[in-house]
Amino acid sequence: MNTTETIQPARRIAGEIEVPGDKSISHRSVMFGALARGRTLVTGFLQGEDNYATLNAFRMMGVSICECGEGRLEIDGAGLDGLREPADVLDCGNSGTTMRLMAGLLSGQNFFAVLTGDQYLRRRPMRRVTVPLRQMGARIQGREDGEKAPLAIQGGPLSGIAWNSPVASAQVKSALLLAGLYAEGPTTVFEPHLSRDHSERMLSHFGARVERLENGVRIEPRPDLRGGEIAVPGDISSAAFLIVAALIVPGSELLIRNVGVNPTRSGIIDILQAMGGDLKLENFRERSGEPVADLLVRHSRLEGIEIGGELIPRAIDELPVVSVAAAFAEGETLIRDARELRVKETDRIAAMVSELDRIGAEVEALEDGMRIVGCEQLAGGEVDSWGDHRIAMSMAVAGLRCREPLSIGNTACTRTSFPGFWDLLRKVSHD
Ligand code: S3P
Repeated sequence: MNTTETIQPARRIAGEIEVPGDKSISHRSVMFGALARGRTLVTGFLQGEDNYATLNAFRMMGVSICECGEGRLEIDGAGLDGLREPADVLDCGNSGTTMRLMAGLLSGQNFFAVLTGDQYLRRRPMRRVTVPLRQMGARIQGREDGEKAPLAIQGGPLSGIAWNSPVASAQVKSALLLAGLYAEGPTTVFEPHLSRDHSERMLSHFGARVERLENGVRIEPRPDLRGGEIAVPGDISSAAFLIVAALIVPGSELLIRNVGVNPTRSGIIDILQAMGGDLKLENFRERSGEPVADLLVRHSRLEGIEIGGELIPRAIDELPVVSVAAAFAEGETLIRDARELRVKETDRIAAMVSELDRIGAEVEALEDGMRIVGCEQLAGGEVDSWGDHRIAMSMAVAGLRCREPLSIGNTACTRTSFPGFWDLLRKVSHD
């Protein structure tokens, strides 16, 4: 379905809001809850299409999951050996997290399964998981020798390995940790920079032996996982769109309650503060092993900065909306070391450069990032999301500070991660 949304220039962003639950933590609550013994109660589960792909896959493997009201799940854990062979192909939709993590999990089962996804996911690289999983003994086939889905997996015995991942990727790390639950001997994953650590936190919360190393993590096999309660905080990746909206529209003040601020995810806060953003964390607390806070944001005059290195994996999903903040900052912003953006739901460097350019921004694509020169106002007109939820929402934020209304084509994709985005943005926008 092809939908278009039009954003009107805003005079002010104001209000007190919450954003939907964290996508990464929601996926993991279903996966680890299904593998644990006993019941897991999840609150704040993200009711987005990506997370339903995970939920449906586990139902197809025989796990009983009750959706009992707004974002509340009751999962009757099947235990490590309780999953059943799915009678049909598992459709991961647009969700890379579902496909890559499931590839790890399915490698250790005693049955056969096939993973597929939508046209975008079937173009994304999978050898980053299939190569190390094969080294553990997994029998995985896919197009281009395991690079592209569909992936066909005949589960079986695995051996633990030590893997040096060339990319800082929580999806790679988590896939190997999931396979490691079933392996003979420990499994260790090293990465160039620390990627999001929700898997480590939740597995420990459920009783797994997970050891943090310098630049890596090690898991011992066959833990006695016990289900429990998971309170999913608001998704900082979703909050990022509203944060940038409030920073760039003069006169704005916005309070976003209950946002996950895990340090492996909060690079966006560091970046925006370094640009001069008035962004305060209040009421800091911990829930289900994850740090949470309320965020108070006020309009600020932003300045261009250079972004790279360890900040990149801590803000990887927020870089499109950082480029929007940069388009209204004083001077030049340089984003480097972000080649991974080229293999997300779409090539996010090409997409942001193309769509910002269409509305008059001074922006240049670099092989591993972008160069953006800020201005006072952009033009408005028409842009396209490229079928990518984060491009659609980033451009919506840009539209708030355009001279003319901005129409964004192909916006149904926002349902993958942020149902209710358009209504929420309109609710806080005052004209
Ligand atoms: C995710 C990890 C990140 C991120 C994605 C969600 C996860 O991908 O971009 O949106 O839940 O593990 P990579 O691990 O491939 O960087």
